[in-house]
Amino acid sequence: MSFSKSVYKYCIDTQFNLIYNIDSTTVLRGIFKNLNRNSQFQRLSLIHHIQRTMAATGNKFFVGGNWKLNGTRESIEALVNTYNNGGKFPSSVEVVVAPTALHIGYVQSKMRPDVAMCAQNVSSDSGFGALTGELTADLFKAWGINWTIAGHSERRRRKQIRGLGHDEESNSVAKKTKHALNCGMKVIVCIGETLADREAGTTLNVCFEQLTFIKETISVEEWARIVIAYEPVWAIGTGLSASPEQAQEVHASLRRWLLTNLNSEVASATRIIYGGSVKPTNASALIACPDIDGFLVGGCSLKSDFMEIINCCPPEWDSTARSELGKRAANDIQSIGADGKKSKQ
Ligand code: PGA
Repeated sequence: MSFSKSVYKYCIDTQFNLIYNIDSTTVLRGIFKNLNRNSQFQRLSLIHHIQRTMAATGNKFFVGGNWKLNGTRESIEALVNTYNNGGKFPSSVEVVVAPTALHIGYVQSKMRPDVAMCAQNVSSDSGFGALTGELTADLFKAWGINWTIAGHSERRRRKQIRGLGHDEESNSVAKKTKHALNCGMKVIVCIGETLADREAGTTLNVCFEQLTFIKETISVEEWARIVIAYEPVWAIGTGLSASPEQAQEVHASLRRWLLTNLNSEVASATRIIYGGSVKPTNASALIACPDIDGFLVGGCSLKSDFMEIINCCPPEWDSTARSELGKRAANDIQSIGADGKKSKQ
């Protein structure tokens, strides 16, 4: 048995009991030191996977439906019926939907109880009173809405796309996020690059910068109520999805960013979901990626496809399922040659 295989077996045999804390991360780093130096990234990935296996226990995949600006009285009623007749959801999945603010009360009163309501946006103001036209987090929370989206690219790029209003800036997204957290809400923070960013090779810089505003505004503890939605702008509503490899690469980097800039617990426990033309035909391959913890779905959340997407999530989010992910990471380590390149499997 190779050295890395025996390390992995040791991890499995001990049920990772020794590993989920910073000190033992240091120990693991020591163990891995003898492996090929060029595979540092893969070694860290395995460590993250092992930590996540521990932290993830009791956690769930997360699938959000963003209904955007859609819905007549009839179509909303029909859509709620589609959800209500959509059969049992895997208990491993947490489901939320974001109807318009106009519809959310109606949907809340008719929707099956295992689908939580989510606002599409909240005001950067807080409180109640002389704020004509605004909808604050305080107001949503008072009406039993526990989730909101913040920083969707259609808001960050509103002026650019529609030529109207203004583009929402990262500091405003952070402010809204903070208000919502202060009210006891949970927040889906959307980040992602444009096609021009991707072509210029700045995808990660853009995502990290957007996340930095959040990090500088909220406390470390508040990350427990954040879900990060990585949504490449070029994939939203275009039918063009990021490939599982492209998405996984960014998700793994986001997790490393959380590890470096916050701590291992936040990196392990934060769900990083993918959005951008998710459909029943690509959901299984995407969710099979070790760092993709669910989806934010636009177009397909307006039809029965949404239930199919939910059912693409593995039926369990537990240490057994997650140890498979660890196994994959361990295999990755072994496929790295002395030149630091991955061999064909
Ligand atoms: P899409 O939208 O699934 O229609 O691409 C995703 C989103 O905007 O969150």
